[in-house]
Amino acid sequence: MALSNVATYFFLIILLISTRVLAFDSCVSNSNKGNSDLSVIHIYGKCSPFNPPKPSSSWINTVINMASKDPRRLSYLSSLVVSKKPTIVPIAPGQQLFNIGNYVVRVKMGTPGQQMYMVMDTSNDAAWVPCSGCVGCSSTTLFAPTTSSTYGSVDCFVPECTQLRGSFSCPSTGSVSGSSACFFNQSYGGDSSFYAMLSRDSLGLANDVVPNYAFGCISSISGNSIPPQGLLGLGRGSMSLMSQSGSLYSGVFSYCLPSFKSYYFSGSLKLGPVGQPKNIKTTPLLKNPRRPSLYYVNLTSVSVGRVQVPIAPEHLAFDPNTGAGTIIDSGTVITRFVQPAYDAIRDEFRKQVNGTFISLGTFDTCFASPNEAGAPTITLHFEGMDLKLPMENTLIHSSATPLACLAIAAAPNNVNSILNVIANLQQQNLRILFDTANSRVGIAREVCN
Ligand SMILES: *[C@@H]1O[C@H](CO)[C@@H](O)[C@H](O)[C@H]1NC(C)=O
Ligand SMILES: *[C@@H]1O[C@H](CO)[C@@H](O)[C@H](O)[C@H]1NC(C)=O
Ligand SMILES: *[C@@H]1O[C@H](CO)[C@@H](O)[C@H](O)[C@H]1NC(C)=O
Repeated sequence: MALSNVATYFFLIILLISTRVLAFDSCVSNSNKGNSDLSVIHIYGKCSPFNPPKPSSSWINTVINMASKDPRRLSYLSSLVVSKKPTIVPIAPGQQLFNIGNYVVRVKMGTPGQQMYMVMDTSNDAAWVPCSGCVGCSSTTLFAPTTSSTYGSVDCFVPECTQLRGSFSCPSTGSVSGSSACFFNQSYGGDSSFYAMLSRDSLGLANDVVPNYAFGCISSISGNSIPPQGLLGLGRGSMSLMSQSGSLYSGVFSYCLPSFKSYYFSGSLKLGPVGQPKNIKTTPLLKNPRRPSLYYVNLTSVSVGRVQVPIAPEHLAFDPNTGAGTIIDSGTVITRFVQPAYDAIRDEFRKQVNGTFISLGTFDTCFASPNEAGAPTITLHFEGMDLKLPMENTLIHSSATPLACLAIAAAPNNVNSILNVIANLQQQNLRILFDTANSRVGIAREVCN
């Protein structure tokens, strides 16, 4: 027993060393993937251009630190879904967007292409990049419109601009042709905002080009929450990448997020129907007209081991009027359930694991890791699809003390929390397929590190 454990550890160490050596090259040569495949890099990963901090000796603290921003994002997502306003526009003036830039993809803006690392976000439609001359931008990598032969501004009187500017009317004078460019303000991250010009240019993704892609060209920033090289919105709304790329990708994309621990690795973003997994189990996407960007799914129940957790149906049910339900999100770190649902799941989990439980940061169910051998599998039952969470996506470990923690949490109590969010940590090494044309989401196991 002990011997085989020792052998397993040796094997794992050797595997770790050999895969790390292999992965060293992946930062420079990630172009040998398929035509429409992009590398997805964790912002703290080795391949990230953003001076990532060295992996902490206690990476659970890194995750706890990242997850400490979840409540703000949850609060943002919840405030949007309960909004009494009519249909929310893709990039709205004065709206507070709480995004956490967990994963970046490399894109090329303009002709010839200028390389940018943009944060990918499935709960936003917006795309924007910092442009040359930007005041207050943190990155020295700025998009230079004047050196792109395909760049163009967007007239203030087009409907997209009218939506962006909200109550600000277009200036009637000032340009020779009688029209003027579309400038707009957007607040972001609670403490930040930017001023940008709606623009169009070619967007290069791997070997593809999306012509006339509309995005905000940022000319000034205040605050420090703005993703340094911009944001790529992968939501469902009218200005998202899927809507703007039309038949190029037929509304289909998928991603596989690398393991949180895999500092050296990248995952992938596959655009279009080609090369997507066949025979993948799927669940229908639900549409909330109040929040067209979000990917709502029908989570019907949760099992812990063989026990179906008793959760009152209203804590899981989709309700387009209140915005309640469950979404899949690429910007929240840890999966959050509304409090009564989380309590029920946690209580059942504790029943099935021996030990006393302590809290560590966001996590309230940490126990001596020798007891984890008996830890039950958590299964999310979606309409038509069950997702058995791999143990790596269920437990998080503290290296300082030999602890394992249940890596999910309750939605913050101080917000009108009605939304369950399936987040990054629970999506590691799974391929999540978004088929907006057929209104469904598929999930399959894949080791994509
Ligand atoms: C942007 O915000 C500034 C400062 O609040 C304001 O002066 C300006 O009119 C706003 N412009 C637009 C287009 O919203
Ligand atoms: C819990 O501890 C008891 C008594 O030591 C043992 O019989 C049981 O198998 C343990 N259960 C788990 C899930 O580890
Ligand atoms: C969710 O799935 C359940 C079980 O299949 C079904 O009864 C319910 O109508 C579905 N809800 C929505 C909003 O589609």
